[in-house]
Amino acid sequence: MSTHLPVGVFDSGVGGLSVARAIRARLPDLDLIYVADSAHAPYGAKSAAAVRERSRAITRFLFDQGAAAVVVACNTATAMAVEDLRESFAQPIVAMEPAVKPAAAATRTGRIGVLATAGTLESVRYRRLLQDHGSQVKVIERVCHHWVDQVERGELSGATARAAVAAEIEPLLEAGADTLVLGCTHFPWLAPLIADVAGPEVALIDPAPAVAEQLARRLINGSTAGHGALTLYSSRVAADEG
Ligand code: DGL
Repeated sequence: MSTHLPVGVFDSGVGGLSVARAIRARLPDLDLIYVADSAHAPYGAKSAAAVRERSRAITRFLFDQGAAAVVVACNTATAMAVEDLRESFAQPIVAMEPAVKPAAAATRTGRIGVLATAGTLESVRYRRLLQDHGSQVKVIERVCHHWVDQVERGELSGATARAAVAAEIEPLLEAGADTLVLGCTHFPWLAPLIADVAGPEVALIDPAPAVAEQLARRLINGSTAGHGALTLYSSRVAADEG
C-alpha cells in the first residue's frame, strides 16, 4: 500500500468508534475516515441482503475517498457481508468477529458469555467460529439488541442504563460465566457498567485491540504515516473533525 493514505472504518452507528479508538491507540498517526450509517441503524435486526447492500455502498464510498483499507468495525456487518465485500473489492478489508477463541482460552469456569446482536449470533460465520473454537467450553449467548439503541442515545451511565445492563448480565453470572465476550462494537461503551455489575472476577473481552493489530500487519511499508486526522461521516449528517 502507498504512504499517507487514510483508512476507512464503518459501523451502523457510533459503536465502531470503539474500534477507531483502538486503532488510534495502536497507530496514532494514521488518518481515519469513519462512517456511521446512522440513518440505517441498527443492523442487528435487518436482513442479510440489506446489510450487504449498505456495507457495499459504504465501502465503495470509503475507497472513493482514497482509503488504503477498510475496517468493518461491526460484528453484524462482518457476519453478514464480509465475504461479499472481499469478493467485490481488491483492497484489504479488515473485519471482526466475537472473541470466542481468547475467551475459551481464558475461562476458568469453562463457561463464557457472548453478548451480540441476533444477526451475529444467527449467522453461519458465527456458528463456524463456535465449532472451531468454542466446542471445549459452554457458550451462553445473549442478544442485547436494545443496548445498541441505548448507546446510540448516549445512555452510558446512570441508574436506568445500569439496570438495562444488569438485566442481561445477571443471568450469565448465575449460569457461571466468568468471561464475557463483547460481540458488538457498541458494547465496549457500556464496559464500565458491565464491569460494575459483573465484578472484578469476571473478564470482559473486546476484540478491538486485536483488530487494530491485524490492521497494522496489513499496512506495511510505512503506510501508517499521516497526521492522525479523524474525518467523521454519518448517513444522517456529515462532519469533519480534521
Ligand atoms: N455495532 C454493531 C456490531 O458490532 C451493530 C449493531 C447494530 O447495528 O445492530 O454488531
